Amino acid sequence: MFASLPVPTGPFEIPEAPPGSEGIRFSLIVPTYKESGNVRAIVGQLTQLLDSQIPNDYELIVVDDDSPDRTWKVALEVANEYPQLRVMRRQTERGLSTAVIRGWQAARGEILGVIDADLQHPPDVLLKLYSEIQRGADLAIASRHVEEGGVSDWSLVRRFLSRGAQLLGLILVPGVVGRVSDPMSGYFLVRRDAIAGKRLDPVGYKILLEVIGRGNIRWIGEVGYVFQERTEGESKVTWKQYIEYLQHLVRLRFARWPMARFLRFGIVGFSGVFIDMGVLYILREFALLGLTRSAAISAELAILNNFLWNDIWTFGDLSRQQKKFSQRVKRFLKFNLICLAGLCLKLLLLNFLFNVVGLDEYLGNFLAIAAVTFWNFWVNLKLNWRVTQVK
Ligand code: GDD
Ligand code: MN
Repeated sequence: MFASLPVPTGPFEIPEAPPGSEGIRFSLIVPTYKESGNVRAIVGQLTQLLDSQIPNDYELIVVDDDSPDRTWKVALEVANEYPQLRVMRRQTERGLSTAVIRGWQAARGEILGVIDADLQHPPDVLLKLYSEIQRGADLAIASRHVEEGGVSDWSLVRRFLSRGAQLLGLILVPGVVGRVSDPMSGYFLVRRDAIAGKRLDPVGYKILLEVIGRGNIRWIGEVGYVFQERTEGESKVTWKQYIEYLQHLVRLRFARWPMARFLRFGIVGFSGVFIDMGVLYILREFALLGLTRSAAISAELAILNNFLWNDIWTFGDLSRQQKKFSQRVKRFLKFNLICLAGLCLKLLLLNFLFNVVGLDEYLGNFLAIAAVTFWNFWVNLKLNWRVTQVK
């Protein structure tokens, strides 16, 4: 019987070149946990399919997490009959996403892929995915939400949960989740060079999000497929995977958040508070203006102060690309509008936190300020300082 593959250790990073000397075209990972009843069938079907297209130029790697039903042992027995099959048995790590990455780290292929072991992903779709990559795609995804795609007979609740998770992803990381129709898919191929050398930070089930979020992916191809019902074994999804999914979204959000720019924006905002307070003091004590008028003038001066610093410093690199006076004035006016909207938002939020949630006024105010700072920053970045070169 063959020995199992050594498990790569260290950071989750795919090497630029395959380990060892001989590279091959394609490596497909089959992650398993308690799939002893499926592993033989899936390997058989995949082998038949791939032998007809790229004989001797592919490998299948079962990555099993020491399943109590000894899936790894069954896989090793099957490997006696199928020379393209390699088996990795992990005894210290667990989890779907890390299993896939450990498999890719040991893989020899230029093209890397993943498919579920339970036959819920129809094997024949693999060839369509493969030809998407041949045509030049960096990533080819099997999708339930394009033509010819779907789910077998899912309950309304399950469809709702799946779509809800997608919507949440769209809100938190639109730049990742919004790029594909089925971000939850666990059936896809990716070019090694699109993800090699990137530090991956996987949590939970959704390895595809990690690939899109951290890889260098330009062209994405999608192929429809129908998610089949399971006949052997059972799903490992519990509420824990939903929590991990949320955690993953938040991590991706911060990985993509322009931290340095946001810090500059925060510092500028802080300086504005002093301008606002200082001017208010002068107008009240020395110019003897009424409170409303003083507060309005001091607020506007603080906005002007913040705008100038943001234009020169926070978003300096962007404003230098559009530095006509008229463009600056336009940005200033938009900045005013966004701040005004931010103020309304803040008042709404404060009222909600105080009257509905029942928080302390000062804590509520603090949280509202924090939330609006994020809003102001994000909207200004996306709508105001963004360089739009329309010919
Ligand atoms: N090595 C390893 N370790 N494999 C695992 C683990 C684990 O901790 N957990 C699950 N697997 C394997 C299963 O054995 C199966 O082959 C595959 O991962 C998918 O697990 P299921 O439990 O069957 O998931 P599902 O049916 O809900 O499928 C959903 O998730 C898939 C994976 O992201 C759907 O969203 C699919 O589209 C998606 O492909
Ligand atoms: Mn499944």
